[in-house]
Amino acid sequence: MSLATPPLSLYVHVPWCVKKCPYCDFNSHTGRGELPLARYVDALLADLDHDLPQVWGRTIRTVFFGGGTPSLLPAELVDRFLQQASSRLRFAPDCEITLETNPGTSEYGKLADYRAAGVNRLSFGVQSFDDGCLERLGRIHDSAQAADAVRQAQDAGFAEINLDLMYALPGQDLAMAALDIERALALSPTHISHYQLTLEANTVFAARPPKGLPDDDLAWDMQEHCQSMLAQAGYEHYETSAYAKPGHRCAHNLNYWRYGDYLGIGAGAHGKVTMGASQSILRRWKHKHPTRYLDTAGTADAIGGDEAIEPSRRPFEFMLNALRLHEGFAWTQFLARTGLPRAAIAGPLSTAIELGWLEDDGERVRPTALGRRFTNDVLELFLDAPVEADIHG
Ligand SMILES: C[S@@+](CC[C@H](N)C(=O)[O-])C[C@H]1O[C@@H](n2cnc3c(N)ncnc32)[C@H](O)[C@@H]1O
Ligand code: SF4
Repeated sequence: MSLATPPLSLYVHVPWCVKKCPYCDFNSHTGRGELPLARYVDALLADLDHDLPQVWGRTIRTVFFGGGTPSLLPAELVDRFLQQASSRLRFAPDCEITLETNPGTSEYGKLADYRAAGVNRLSFGVQSFDDGCLERLGRIHDSAQAADAVRQAQDAGFAEINLDLMYALPGQDLAMAALDIERALALSPTHISHYQLTLEANTVFAARPPKGLPDDDLAWDMQEHCQSMLAQAGYEHYETSAYAKPGHRCAHNLNYWRYGDYLGIGAGAHGKVTMGASQSILRRWKHKHPTRYLDTAGTADAIGGDEAIEPSRRPFEFMLNALRLHEGFAWTQFLARTGLPRAAIAGPLSTAIELGWLEDDGERVRPTALGRRFTNDVLELFLDAPVEADIHG
């Protein structure tokens, strides 16, 4: 078996927000005073330069500015970054370039300038169209601002637009969750991400859970109901939380779920790169804290860690991603991206098939509806699967 080089993406992290939301555990910090954004873009470019030897000669298929709130970057800085980055690395002609946008930070002129800079997909953090829910979530915008931002993006010519929505919100009932979907559909985005609100460790909500959180049964009903509304409106449910109009799936996220490669630049960003020559897969991550990152980017001191993914860990990592997709994975992909033969997962796979969680038609392995409901149990089977040393190579 041998590892083949998969498609390559570029993730760019922007670690500041206008105000930290009480449910959020992303590496994001309330920006105080004037943010050093121009310096940050210089740091991103130095960081990219430092990582370049890992991916020399390869083509970038997708770019994702994530956060935090990347829409805090003025369009000139996004333009500068993309121009400089594309002089260092080859970008595919149809490269998908997404920018996460908080509706509280978008204005028409800026959106049009992002498009001129090369951004061709916007992902709006809408969360809900209910002003009471937005307030309880500590959001900086109301529902009218969110709807305006989406319309302005469409007027500015963006054809690819995602809305992030969350459900199982404090004070939300089934009708309210359905109304959020209805209001999202009225804006005709090409993509909708629909996440169940989770109480993440080390967040304000984990320390002091908000009142009126729906129980698990209600959360499940919300998910099923919203899912059928989205299906009726022509959105394909292709991943645990992702729905897209045909032909509008998120190429960047698909690359993660297919265990592709990505460079991660910016504070706390993670990367994964397959090295064909040494038949290894390397992970690298950068220091999380913005000040430390700014002071060290481009030097070895900015690296939070480097790690090789041993063959024994690859089946679980691969499944963790691939089983989120309704299409599952092709065997050819498993072999090329893990460097392991089918035998490496034969035991847990046959258990999962017996339990009705996965199906294998010889070419592809897919999660069943039952398997999709119990993803964590399915994954656990692959966590402890022994991979014999001699089957790699
Ligand atoms: C990095 S944020 C996106 C953009 C931008 N920062 C914003 O919030 O407007 C990514 C998305 O993850 C989702 N998210 C964040 N924290 C979550 C949580 N605790 N539970 C479920 N979804 C969450 C939200 O829908 C959020 O829009
Ligand atoms: S949800 Fe978005 S805006 Fe809120 S703190 Fe997290 S990254 Fe920032």
